[in-house]
Amino acid sequence: MKHLLKPPQQKTRNTVRLAETVVVAGGSGYLGRALVRELLAHGHSVMIATRNPSKTLRQPGFPVHPRLAVFDLHKQPPHQPTVVINLCGENIAAKRWSSKRKQVLIDSRIDPTLLLVNRCNRDWPQVHSFINASAIGLYGDHGDAWIDEDSRCGNDFAAQLCQQWELCLQPLRPDIRRVHSRLGVVIGEARSGSFLGRLLPAYRFCMGAQLGNGQHWFSWIHRQDAAAALCFLMENYRCQGSYNLCAPQAVRHQRLHYLIAKVLKRPSKLRLPAAAIRLLFGEMAQLLLCSQRVTPRRLAKAGFEFQYPNLHGALYHAITGRQPINGLPLPKLARLATQHRPHHPAAGRR
Ligand SMILES: NC(=O)c1ccc[n+]([C@@H]2O[C@H](COP(=O)([O-])OP(=O)(O)OC[C@H]3O[C@@H](n4cnc5c(N)ncnc54)[C@H](OP(=O)(O)O)[C@@H]3O)[C@@H](O)[C@H]2O)c1
Repeated sequence: MKHLLKPPQQKTRNTVRLAETVVVAGGSGYLGRALVRELLAHGHSVMIATRNPSKTLRQPGFPVHPRLAVFDLHKQPPHQPTVVINLCGENIAAKRWSSKRKQVLIDSRIDPTLLLVNRCNRDWPQVHSFINASAIGLYGDHGDAWIDEDSRCGNDFAAQLCQQWELCLQPLRPDIRRVHSRLGVVIGEARSGSFLGRLLPAYRFCMGAQLGNGQHWFSWIHRQDAAAALCFLMENYRCQGSYNLCAPQAVRHQRLHYLIAKVLKRPSKLRLPAAAIRLLFGEMAQLLLCSQRVTPRRLAKAGFEFQYPNLHGALYHAITGRQPINGLPLPKLARLATQHRPHHPAAGRR
């Protein structure tokens, strides 16, 4: 177990206060790893809660840092935390939703959340904020209508799962600030199990296909923005309640398909009909066919600025590892610049 150094003083927008000691449950996961890096960069101390500390420490590229520790989720952390961020949950898109699988998805969210809530109430008196992951799946299908934090909830399995998950925070001590971060599909490096990790191999073999008629809306967030937004919500005490963590520009699936093919320089002609998707994935097909045009209204109002507001730029970064400029890939910017270059009288003269 690593020793946690005394956290440094940190300036926020309105106050000067001590940096936080944050328990990140699920900090070993895809989003968790990005969040841990973000929190450390902001001067906070981090304790990752995991079911398997030794496996987490052996992860390739696991950061070694004096303000980072790893502990068993079912044991006590090495230091008293001041904030809990909970990202625990089995991957909802990993397998078909049999009734056994549905129970695993429920238990992997409800059990760790209730465990952490009880710990806050009983053992961790210094905790002042609890930030819980949730998902935009909570809203269900809304067609072409915009979805904000006040929109009605859906009643399919994913929606019910998210509602149950959010309810777990009700028994928290009343003095603890609570935030539900309703995440869109996280786009980032194509690791196994991640959204792009599943899609890209098919595209690389020219087998990437548009889902259904492609008219349904897709709401997404770049992994780096998701981590930054969680850190922002933690540091801004005025933020509480539900926040949609999605980029401001939802797109139709047709556009998602076109842009992935474009960034990979592959054809975009194939279509996978909705009926075939339902046959292949059963009830889980709703994740692929549901239309969700989500706006991060409360996050934007709170002053959060997205580094990747544009899907083309986000995919370009996720797939090529290169940074877009002003949200757009470099080649596109270069083309725009040549198209709009003002005529110079000397041009063409030798
Ligand atoms: N990625 C997305 O596109 C997306 C979109 C919407 C919402 N979310 C939500 O955001 C959270 C983080 O997403 P992610 O992509 O980082 O997921 P991930 O890579 O699958 O990581 C999830 C973490 O949850 C922990 N976990 C899994 N099953 C558990 C169980 N039964 N009990 C306790 N802990 C368990 C695992 O930690 P250990 O194995 O170390 O214990 C794992 O590190 C998830 O809850 C997910 O539902 C993600």
